[in-house]
Amino acid sequence: MHGLFITGTATGTGKTVVAAAICAALTARGERVAAYKPVVTGLDEPDATWPMDHELLAACAQSTAGAVTARTFGPPLSPHRAAELAGRPLDPAVLVADARRAAAAGDVLVAEGVGGLLVPLTLGYLVRDLAVDLGMPVVIAARPGLGTINHTLLTVQAARAAGLRVAGVAMGPWPGDPVARRARPTCGRSRHSATWPSAPCRSSRAPTSRTSPRPGRPCRWTSGSRRASSGRGRGDRAG
Ligand SMILES: Nc1ncnc2c1ncn2[C@@H]1O[C@H](COP(=O)(O)OP(=O)(O)O)[C@@H](O)[C@H]1O
Ligand SMILES: [Mg+2]
Repeated sequence: MHGLFITGTATGTGKTVVAAAICAALTARGERVAAYKPVVTGLDEPDATWPMDHELLAACAQSTAGAVTARTFGPPLSPHRAAELAGRPLDPAVLVADARRAAAAGDVLVAEGVGGLLVPLTLGYLVRDLAVDLGMPVVIAARPGLGTINHTLLTVQAARAAGLRVAGVAMGPWPGDPVARRARPTCGRSRHSATWPSAPCRSSRAPTSRTSPRPGRPCRWTSGSRRASSGRGRGDRAG
């Protein structure tokens, strides 16, 4: 499938921000973008200041939340558990079909995973399996900070072990703190370059204003100056 699968080193590492930014950038370039998220959990605990994943993705892809995902669940739990509790267990074949249907609405598909690559969608089917079935390269969203190198390399390793191509690592929000800047990862130029992805490493600037998602209107937080909230990731409480 033509597009990118955005995964992360964990929940709350910026997958939605990165996926939405890619959607907004491609849309601004005149491309027909389709956004897809297999499952959104945590609807019972919305963030008052930050849209749910499917809403933000829809706003940036000029789509609707319902077109981005057909599967939403209230509790902020791993998708397999939230679906079980709702009496609507997930079916891998149906998730793949959902993605193909979403992709048909555009020329390029931007898919956001749920949590990290090894999060179960069912007890025998991981987010990584879905990325493999969709045949898409992955972009890894990571937070810069202590533990990031380890989390990122583990994710790269998990992706490559399944034959996935790592298209890049996106780190954000980039710290303003000069000490943290000195600790900036070297992205493939260290002695560990054999294990670093031979893929571009990008830092992302903070989304700067939280606009209400309005289908049909491009996201405005790709430019501006207001500081984003430090809220955790929504929509994929994968534990
Ligand atoms: N590049 C960034 N700049 C500023 N804040 C960010 C950035 N990436 C993530 N965040 C913050 O982290 C939170 C979690 O990001 P999100 O994209 O929802 O993570 P995920 O989808 O991986 O769960 C967001 O609500 C936002 O406040
Ligand atoms: Mg998300």
